[in-house]
Amino acid sequence: MRIGILGTGMMAAALGGRWAVAGHDIAVAGRSPDKARALAAELGRGVRATTVAEATVGADAVLLAVAFDGVEEILRDAESAGTLAGTTLIDPTNAVEHGVGLHRLPTGTSAARHIAGLAPGAHVVKAFHLLPATHWTEPTAIGATVPICGDDLGALRVTETLIRDAGAEPAVLGGLDRARQLEEAAGFVIGLVFQGFDPRTAVPHVRVAAPTV
Ligand SMILES: NC(=O)c1ccc[n+]([C@@H]2O[C@H](COP(=O)([O-])OP(=O)(O)OC[C@H]3O[C@@H](n4cnc5c(N)ncnc54)[C@H](OP(=O)(O)O)[C@@H]3O)[C@@H](O)[C@H]2O)c1
Repeated sequence: MRIGILGTGMMAAALGGRWAVAGHDIAVAGRSPDKARALAAELGRGVRATTVAEATVGADAVLLAVAFDGVEEILRDAESAGTLAGTTLIDPTNAVEHGVGLHRLPTGTSAARHIAGLAPGAHVVKAFHLLPATHWTEPTAIGATVPICGDDLGALRVTETLIRDAGAEPAVLGGLDRARQLEEAAGFVIGLVFQGFDPRTAVPHVRVAAPTV
């Protein structure tokens, strides 16, 4: 796939690294061209540093790997080139208060819906927001489940493929109306971590029967 990665920080590096190894064609862009060039060089495997518009034109998927405070600016750049309509736009952002985990947006909305409003016509999928970036940089990081939601079936399929290519298993929970719940789950995890608890000890370990075909 042709993947545009917006953002040059930890998530961009971690998932970009996984997808580069899986053989995808990747362009990275951010507000700092120097950081984009450095990340492309770090990732190797033909990864290119481009402008935001170039990273999104013709992309099969775009990863919005920027701080929530930066999404408006970077999407404005992409939209000014008119490039995101019909594109799978993967949203891993956490719009939560650092160290506390409280959602910053009013009840009844979500970061994913906010992003969909900033990029009309893009097919937004909430994904990758729960696991830390370091999960994807550990060579043995396998066996994780990535819950996702979105309204467009094609965009969900694209995201499922990219999750599997990163070494995890996707779980589609529903439409974008589930995004708030998924985002609150991340806030819950972040809140526990900052209180010194391992979040895995706070959820039940349930044995799940293999699905019957
Ligand atoms: N790190 C994790 O473990 C993790 C896990 C799940 C989800 N996430 C989410 O994934 C997204 C990226 O996280 P990250 O860890 O990669 O963050 P990061 O390493 O801090 O990188 C943030 C990126 O956003 C850009 N940015 C920040 N403020 C901006 C602004 N006002 N306008 C435009 N661009 C701005 C930065 O550009 P500059 O470098 O130029 O500042 C950088 O490219 C965030 O929304 C985060 O909540 C992170």
